[in-house]
Amino acid sequence: MFDYTPPPTLLADRVILVTGAGFGIGRAAALSFAAYGATVILLGRTISKLEAVYDEIEQAGYQKPAIYPMNLEGANPSDYENLANTLKTEFKRLDGLLHNAAILGTLTPLEHYDIKLWYQVLQINLNAPFLLTKALIPLMKNASDASIIFTSDDVGLLGKAYWGAYAVSKFATSGMMQILADELETNTALRVNSINPGKVRTSMRTTAYPAIDPKTLPLPETIMPLYLYLMGPDSHLINGQTLKANDENIINN
Ligand SMILES: NC(=O)c1ccc[n+]([C@@H]2O[C@H](COP(=O)([O-])OP(=O)(O)OC[C@H]3O[C@@H](n4cnc5c(N)ncnc54)[C@H](OP(=O)(O)O)[C@@H]3O)[C@@H](O)[C@H]2O)c1
Repeated sequence: MFDYTPPPTLLADRVILVTGAGFGIGRAAALSFAAYGATVILLGRTISKLEAVYDEIEQAGYQKPAIYPMNLEGANPSDYENLANTLKTEFKRLDGLLHNAAILGTLTPLEHYDIKLWYQVLQINLNAPFLLTKALIPLMKNASDASIIFTSDDVGLLGKAYWGAYAVSKFATSGMMQILADELETNTALRVNSINPGKVRTSMRTTAYPAIDPKTLPLPETIMPLYLYLMGPDSHLINGQTLKANDENIINN
């Protein structure tokens, strides 16, 4: 597990947007960023899940979050511009952006991959992070220390049979992260990196590996040290990197 002990006010006064914040790793990240002082914008497609996270944050007494419902599959460029304008009006700047939302698609040979599903996976996992990043970069340039985090996966680093559109989207996301990091390296206070979560107990993992007992996998909360490190100021010199949050199978009941 990535080893980092953040100070309690690590993310104080920071405004951070998390995609797919209603469930799984995104939910844990939103709660964790809020616990360390951030105002979190909860973006996702299922309002009831976002509301549950909102309530958890409010009940814990953290900074009041905001909910921004958005289905990344159907959103068009003007929806992203509306989001950027809303954030500009409300917050003036954006200090952090976690691209977490993704779908698995299906595990099948490319020869038999459903074409509609292929487009759907690439729209949510690749085109949406591009459109969101493009719309929000100007706002992030207003921050004095800003961090964009993409989410990668082992199957997006080395080609493996049957992982199809999901793996292709993760390969492309890694490339996009490196391109952006290089473009923004000079004359901005904006860094861009990827987190490879490793094996984590979520619904996506269970769908991908139905034969593996989820109880043998670490909970999303346990991988948060790396998310906090890359979102906070201690990582200000890290740019263009892919870091792995967890290498082990640890039981965390
Ligand atoms: N779990 C692992 O072991 C593992 C390993 C490597 C990489 N990852 C990566 O980690 C990230 C989080 O995965 P997870 O395991 O937490 O998955 P998950 O439990 O399936 O959660 C995915 C999240 O993305 C949201 N989402 C999906 N489609 C969306 C759309 N069209 N618009 C808006 N939001 C959408 C989901 O919202 P709804 O709940 O409303 O559907 C959900 O909140 C992903 O990028 C995944 O590729 C996970």
